Amino acid sequence: MTDTLTPVLTEDWDTERPWRLSSYEARGGYAALTKALAMSQDDVIAAVKDSGLRGRGGAGFPTGMKWGFIPQDNPRPKYLVVNADESEPGTCKDVPLMMASPHTLIEGVVISSYAIRAHRAFIYVRGEVLHVVRRLQAAVAEAYAAGHLGSDIHGSGYDLELVVHAGAGAYICGEETALLDSLEGRRGQPRLRPPFPAVAGLYASPTVINNVESIASVPGIIGRGPTWFSAMGTERSKGHGIFSLSGHVARPGQYEAPLGITLRTLIDLAGGMREGHQLKFWTPGGSSTPLLTAEHLDVPLDFEAVGAAGSMLGTRALQIFDDTTCVVRATLRWIEFYKHESCGKCTPCREGTWWLVQVLAKLEKGEGSAADLDQLLDQCDNILGRSFCALADGATSPVMSSIQYFRDEYLAHLEHGGCPFDPAASTVFATAGASA
Ligand SMILES: Cc1cc2nc3c(=O)[nH]c(=O)nc-3n(C[C@H](O)[C@H](O)[C@H](O)COP(=O)(O)O)c2cc1C
Ligand code: SF4
Repeated sequence: MTDTLTPVLTEDWDTERPWRLSSYEARGGYAALTKALAMSQDDVIAAVKDSGLRGRGGAGFPTGMKWGFIPQDNPRPKYLVVNADESEPGTCKDVPLMMASPHTLIEGVVISSYAIRAHRAFIYVRGEVLHVVRRLQAAVAEAYAAGHLGSDIHGSGYDLELVVHAGAGAYICGEETALLDSLEGRRGQPRLRPPFPAVAGLYASPTVINNVESIASVPGIIGRGPTWFSAMGTERSKGHGIFSLSGHVARPGQYEAPLGITLRTLIDLAGGMREGHQLKFWTPGGSSTPLLTAEHLDVPLDFEAVGAAGSMLGTRALQIFDDTTCVVRATLRWIEFYKHESCGKCTPCREGTWWLVQVLAKLEKGEGSAADLDQLLDQCDNILGRSFCALADGATSPVMSSIQYFRDEYLAHLEHGGCPFDPAASTVFATAGASA
């Protein structure tokens, strides 16, 4: 394990117009594609397996293994779908990646599609980020004109069509099967599994769905070799990853580092906490991952260690909150998001997130009683593992973990008849009162 930054995907973000094809090619772009096209498809899949790359969209499923599930004896077309929906609160790595270096993603798409024997691929982008949609479309047009997409790519005989599709902006459309329904033109709601997308995904055909960062990591793995990639990170969490620091640090931003770096190191790299303030709580991977506190500053940020600490690595969306933040207020704001984004398909989530908001809103105003905390935990118990998809499980994370670490602060709201914090001292929530 190393503890320094390893810019790979972010390496060229501050060069002159890095999103242009000429700039990408000048830095050696699309050489990995030429190399991949000279390999057999199975060798490309084996290289990605050997690298140890695990999905960067949250769950950490091994990417090469996922590709290996595509049944090659199935006569139907195969599809690659890139999940660029990025809507988890705090998650903000794929948008800057696509803005700064769209060709890294496109090169990854062509190599990955070739490996799974797909001739049509899709990038499903969150609709609100129109600037990203436009940048991707321009980059795709450049790639077609240069022969990196279309017919007979690099003279190899391999053909690929790539479509950039804008979603309409719903968090649930990041869930991979809801995404497929949305891509097919229906309302985005999760599908029952099995069948899994690898067997019957888009248009009931074998489909691989991967996160933007997962696919963008592929050119590096093919170009520099799986051993180069697996030399970074920890024993079971290999490679580099983008860690997005937001909130109360001096220099919020994207910090690309080997998996296994600690939050303590990242906060140092980000110039420390806001002057005069202490770390209070943080999310390791967006609001769906249980909160951690200052006692977890030295937990290696890899899939295993964060799991052992009681949370999840998720998307490495490190939201940092200092001692001015009311944890009850923060939790309420997150649960309002989940209630709003619940697709309504199943009762525990549709009704449960609504009830969580009612109880939390009461507690935040200092109303209710200590018994409401047990009621909140009971509601979470009735949601967790009983809902159709992981959106609802994620909604329980901030509630359960905030009560675990900050029960006293909930009780202080009751004793104080409202938030015990001086709102003038809070930078995050003082001006956001209208929506509570
Ligand atoms: C509610 C919900 C939202 C999700 N949003 C995203 C997203 O925006 N981007 C993403 O890559 N994965 C998202 N996922 C995870 C995907 O379902 C899927 O696991 C992922 O795209 C697989 O890619 P990977 O193996 O490369 O990580 C979401 C899951 C859930 C339950
Ligand atoms: S858990 Fe929520 S988002 Fe997922 S299917 Fe059920 S209602 Fe929809």
